[in-house]
Amino acid sequence: MSGDSAVICVDGPSGAGKGTLSQGLATRLGWHLLDSGALYRVVGWACQRRQVCLDDEAEVTQVARQLDVLFRLEPAGVSVWLEGEDVTGAVRSEQGGADASRVAALPKVRAALLYRQQELARPPGLVADGRDMGTVVFPEAPLKIFLIASPEARAKRRLDQLQGRGESVSLPRLLSDIEERDARDQARSVSPLSPAGDAIVIDSTPLSAGEVLGKALSLAIDRGLTTEILDPRLDPALISR
Ligand code: DC
Repeated sequence: MSGDSAVICVDGPSGAGKGTLSQGLATRLGWHLLDSGALYRVVGWACQRRQVCLDDEAEVTQVARQLDVLFRLEPAGVSVWLEGEDVTGAVRSEQGGADASRVAALPKVRAALLYRQQELARPPGLVADGRDMGTVVFPEAPLKIFLIASPEARAKRRLDQLQGRGESVSLPRLLSDIEERDARDQARSVSPLSPAGDAIVIDSTPLSAGEVLGKALSLAIDRGLTTEILDPRLDPALISR
């Protein structure tokens, strides 16, 4: 059995709903969850704390190799622990995302985190959320979903999320940050953001979170990854292909 035999990859740009979908899938299937964005975020945060320059590839790679990090899937989402300290709020901030994008552009940092991600592919299965899950980390995965949404929809969702946490940000600012980050993630030389050749693209712009989950579970059933009986609350029209 290959390491990728029970892996569902959920890739796509930030704000497309990957986190919500991945958590929903992991919870419904009872599978493990890899939030690879959080891994890059925690590297950026650990570098800031240790006053390591985010562009110093050798130093950042060293931090990535030594990272003592733990993720917990909780009802409110994935919490992130660094050296026993809950750093969820810090790494999920806008600054945390910008720092993550910088360290994620460094090839040696990505290489240092590769095995750490691959070893999470364990029974009963893994839902892997990121940018290069289907192209680089789990190329043999039987189901690869590439989730997209319009930049405007993604900025609006992010605004709601941040306002819910009491952070004050403006919509135009979020939109320009999203476009800037997309450009950097798509243009980087190593693992640029693009769908795997065998990925199924889902546009979440007009869909609710439940509808996206319904589509993904339906695909998982098609591929023989689960025999899960779908939740009748999920729209049957969207579930039947
Ligand atoms: O998904 P996220 O917003 O938490 O990701 C934070 C940053 O990390 C984002 O700029 C893209 C980058 N990233 C990456 O390059 N590769 C991944 N597998 C996951 C995230």
